[in-house]
Amino acid sequence: MLLLILALFVGLALLLFYRAETQLSVPWLPAPDDRLFSQRPLPRPLEHNFLDNGTYALPLKTKGRDIVDQKNNRFRLSSVNWYGASDELFVPGGLDVQHRGVIAQTIRKLGFNSVRMPYADEMVMVNPEIMPHLVSANPDLAGLRALDIFVASVEALTNAGIAVIINNHITTATWCCGADPCDAGWANDHLPRAMCRVRQTEEEWIEHWETVMSRFVDNPLVIGADLRNEVRGMWGTMPWRKWATAAEKAGNRLLKINKDWLIIVGGTESGNYLTGAKNRPVVLNVEDKLVYSAHVYSWSGWGSLEGRYSKRTYPSFVKAMRNNWAYLVEQDIAPVWVGEFGAPDKPGEGDMNYWANLLRYLKSIDADFGYWAINPRKPKDNEIESYSLVKDDWVTPILDYRMKDMTELIQGRRVC
Ligand SMILES: *[C@@H]1O[C@H](CO)[C@@H](O)[C@H](O)[C@H]1NC(C)=O
Repeated sequence: MLLLILALFVGLALLLFYRAETQLSVPWLPAPDDRLFSQRPLPRPLEHNFLDNGTYALPLKTKGRDIVDQKNNRFRLSSVNWYGASDELFVPGGLDVQHRGVIAQTIRKLGFNSVRMPYADEMVMVNPEIMPHLVSANPDLAGLRALDIFVASVEALTNAGIAVIINNHITTATWCCGADPCDAGWANDHLPRAMCRVRQTEEEWIEHWETVMSRFVDNPLVIGADLRNEVRGMWGTMPWRKWATAAEKAGNRLLKINKDWLIIVGGTESGNYLTGAKNRPVVLNVEDKLVYSAHVYSWSGWGSLEGRYSKRTYPSFVKAMRNNWAYLVEQDIAPVWVGEFGAPDKPGEGDMNYWANLLRYLKSIDADFGYWAINPRKPKDNEIESYSLVKDDWVTPILDYRMKDMTELIQGRRVC
């Protein structure tokens, strides 16, 4: 009898859990103002948001929670990620579809004033010659090596007045980040030699950074270095202090090459947690150059009792943001760039709940942000990227709830 009651109880709990989980993936139907946005032309970008406008006096620096120019005008990072150079093919996506100058114009027309450009250490170490068909819309790049194509893509952006932040994404050139301990941090030489195909020490990680950034010393629109994507350690065990010390070392070495660069330091645990920066802030040799970065996805937050962000109420979500990183912004301590977040074109209820909470909060604090990502395809197997903001032609924008909210964010429309 007791066993039967227990079995019933477990069965009921499983059923409730199953129903809560399936509720998250029920398709979400666009709201009327989202539908209206998608039927109208995209508003023209605000020219004064771009660094080439003439209103800004470079270099940039930080002041409290903001990134500002030499006259203390705020430059708000409204960024998008353009990936590919950190993946299997070593080349930014879309160069086989459009000239890089056209891709830069697409990004500018969407209103983004800056781009996060990820690279893999393997790209720097191997620096392979890129097969011509991967850059077929850029004939002048045919036969060049990966690093030169990366540099040419960055220059296409800065020539279009778009600021660029270079990002060291991963050691092995592949989609980031699986459970592979070889890519769980900036160095992997503590692991057995046979374990990692691509090995690097902390010193080599910094040397790769120096190789890449040396190419941009004379380009004032390359504004900074995002030192490492989502350091996590084995199963999320990376201590903040260890990462902060390594970040200071790398940051100071880059500031020796050019003291004008912003140094961006991401949180631990998939980029979420900057809680440790309260008692152990990153301190660089050049003042007012440190920007923190946090990543926020619908599946983050799973370690806590309140669950993943796809399920949270707004108050619970905001509490997590404040605890993890937003205290730095709200208390005017340091800028935090939300350098990765994103959602699919056909969201479920869970995606939509996460997105609505996140964008409402980002608008309320007028945040620096970077959407993941512009690319319509993933490099591996040319898989469709549901987070994309453009169609396969790299020109036609996808105007849905995501661009609507980001356009409002870019235009500084405040909500409470
Ligand atoms: C700067 O922005 C203003 C306002 O958006 C615009 O009128 C002006 O033409 C821009 N100047 C340049 C040099 O782009």
